Amino acid sequence: MPEHLIWFKWESYTTWLSGFALLMVVYWVGGELYLIDQTKAQLALWQGIAISAASLSVGWLIYDRLCKSGLAERPTLLMVLLFVLLVAMGYGLNQVFTGRAMMLHLGAFTATIMTANVFFIIMPNQRIVVADLQAGRTPDAKYGKIANLRSTHNNYLTLPVIFLMLSNHSPLAFASQYNWLIAALVFLMVTPIRHYFNTKHAGTGNPTWTWLATTLLFMGVIILSTFGLKHDGEPEQDAALTGTALVMAKAQGFDEVHEIVLGRCSMCHAREPFWDGIRTAPKGVLLETEGDLARQAEAVFMHAGLTDAMPPANVTFMEPEDRAAIRRWFKNARM
Ligand code: HEC
Repeated sequence: MPEHLIWFKWESYTTWLSGFALLMVVYWVGGELYLIDQTKAQLALWQGIAISAASLSVGWLIYDRLCKSGLAERPTLLMVLLFVLLVAMGYGLNQVFTGRAMMLHLGAFTATIMTANVFFIIMPNQRIVVADLQAGRTPDAKYGKIANLRSTHNNYLTLPVIFLMLSNHSPLAFASQYNWLIAALVFLMVTPIRHYFNTKHAGTGNPTWTWLATTLLFMGVIILSTFGLKHDGEPEQDAALTGTALVMAKAQGFDEVHEIVLGRCSMCHAREPFWDGIRTAPKGVLLETEGDLARQAEAVFMHAGLTDAMPPANVTFMEPEDRAAIRRWFKNARM
């Protein structure tokens, strides 16, 4: 058994395991913020986690079935179907998850295919072949063929997986309304790049046409991410309220407190603050719309009801009666 094969195998396993652990910490434990998007689908956290886990496990089962079907004889068609599966998953996840989570799960699914290919297919077949060779038998050619199919997929998937795993740093990609299409183009874009290197490394040619293909596809990505931007003048969409926020919005005194907040807080805590020297909402706390207030209820109660931490130095002259109104509203919601 070649030394470096063993090393690559463990690289693959440890990368998947550590990545999955990170996914659980960021997207499951922190799911309210990073995974589910209430403006897209009103999911409970556990439902989001279930979809997240299923996308990886069920996704792998579907892929594995496809590879074990008669399609294995038609590798190009199989590759096209794999692409369709990936795009469908990106589109589907985008209906329920945040853009970040969609792109990351697409990357995690791709990575799962790659690692599971090594663990469930390539390594076991390798062991059979090595055992045959050691025993002086001629190994059945089918094992090499099966492993070769999976290795080819892994080869083409390495580049998109890197893009998708790093996509969280690129809001123009993941937060664009065309994010799933961008992901699809990235999968397409890396195919000519891979083809170029594969051909070069095999010493069978120098297909420079792939450069043009890649450039054109990349221009598609740029166009989509530019057109996907939000522009001034579009109404801000206020997410539907759920859970505690809904209770707060329905509690008696809500309207009165909203008036107070508009008069005393929103000059700073706005999407476009107009208090001198404040350029973005401090600490990201927005207090403008009714939805904002309902979501920030507890913080408002703490900083302006129970204490006079806000406004800073009471620059907007909150009256004791205003603070009492906040406390009354909060108490009403708790009853
Ligand atoms: C003059 C501008 C200004 C006004 C008016 C103002 N805030 Fe703030 N607010 C700030 C700044 C600045 C911070 C960040 C303070 C810090 O860095 O600790 C902040 C932070 C906060 C935080 C986050 C605190 C934390 O540590 O997480 C809350 C909640 C908050 N404000 C609520 C309110 C409420 C409620 C009102 C109105 C009653 C209000 N603010 C009015 C400037 C303002």
